[in-house]
Amino acid sequence: MLSQLALSIKESPTLKLNETAALLRDKGEPVIHLGGGEPKSRAPIDAIIGCASLLNTGEVRYTPADGIPALKKAVIRYTEEHYDRSVLPENVIVSSGAKQSIMVALHAILDPHDEVIFPAPYWVSYPEMVRLAGGVPVVVTAGDGSFQPTFDEIAAAVGSSTKAIILNSPNNPSGVVYTDDFVRQVVEFCEKRGIWLLMDDTYNRLVYDGRSPTNCYAFTPEDVERSKVVVINCVSKMYAMTGFRIGWAVGNRDLVKAMSNIQSQQTSGPAAPSQWAAIGALNGVQHSVSALRATLENNRNVLVARLRAIPGVKVTAPGGTFYTFPDFSAYEKKSHVLAAMLLDKVRVVTVPGKEFGMEGHLRISFCGTLKEITEGVQRIQWALDPNAPNELFLGGRRLLRDGL
Ligand SMILES: Cc1ncc(COP(=O)(O)O)c(C=O)c1O
Repeated sequence: MLSQLALSIKESPTLKLNETAALLRDKGEPVIHLGGGEPKSRAPIDAIIGCASLLNTGEVRYTPADGIPALKKAVIRYTEEHYDRSVLPENVIVSSGAKQSIMVALHAILDPHDEVIFPAPYWVSYPEMVRLAGGVPVVVTAGDGSFQPTFDEIAAAVGSSTKAIILNSPNNPSGVVYTDDFVRQVVEFCEKRGIWLLMDDTYNRLVYDGRSPTNCYAFTPEDVERSKVVVINCVSKMYAMTGFRIGWAVGNRDLVKAMSNIQSQQTSGPAAPSQWAAIGALNGVQHSVSALRATLENNRNVLVARLRAIPGVKVTAPGGTFYTFPDFSAYEKKSHVLAAMLLDKVRVVTVPGKEFGMEGHLRISFCGTLKEITEGVQRIQWALDPNAPNELFLGGRRLLRDGL
């Protein structure tokens, strides 16, 4: 018999969709994967060299549980450059992806039944991660139907059991960049009330229209030891290094020590070759980040324009990330039904909005190629439009509406 906890935890729907898409492709199906969460570019050459240099020695050993000193140093420099904040090695923990940093932070913070607040739409993993750590997820949905609740709505959800708030901006899945004013209010509130604030900055540098990333440290005490803010980052998205599994957290030393203790018993330090790859990426030429940003911004413009051309679909242009979260409720209110229909009918993978806490929407990624984006939306439009011609040519095959 499995544990109650195991029975209560869902599989990650986004990882599951990757598997489904791969299986269909293996069978020769012309799948377009618009549900993905990783850029298609190659890892920076400095990352490959860093990793290869270690592998060439043939000596690949355990590392300190909280990361090798050279990587912590690179993270400290990153924090100075991008957040204008000086921190010490004791304030940094390197983990196997941002996901593990968030997970060990939750383990370090939560007692059974403590509550963790986060806005909807939210990254699919937050509710399950909070539950895994024994906590209770509390979702705050904006009353006006937008992708950013007001500060008052967040504050109204805070009670005596609230232990932490998670903010993810730019946001997966909506692509929305929360306003500086909203972030400032939440930061100041958490500092004043002694509530932990996990800032999930996974997409922090993937922002468009010439805007600067939000810096939550602008609103915290200068001394990180007096702050409740924990900033989480990773090489996964900005350097297209999802498979290396390197993320980190910066916070006060008591919390970081507790997180390191947990990590030391859980997985030990992250894989050494991956850490050397991350050192290469962080210390190397930064051209790949700006190149990725430019590509994604162009993809976004194309995707948003194409989606807006579908009657009845409501699209908020994302200010960051590589996701849009259009509202398809004019066609189908149940996002699972719609996503399953699109996969079945036109072999386009999208992620149902329900997984992110918002029905009627689909998450559609723009991290693929322009060809995938344009053809994918064309297929979606065809599947939705009752007046569309009865046939569509799909990956060299002729599809008939009634024959699908
Ligand atoms: C908001 C958010 N946080 C964290 C992660 C996890 O990042 P990593 O792959 O570094 O574990 C993701 C990945 O999709 C994400 O979208």
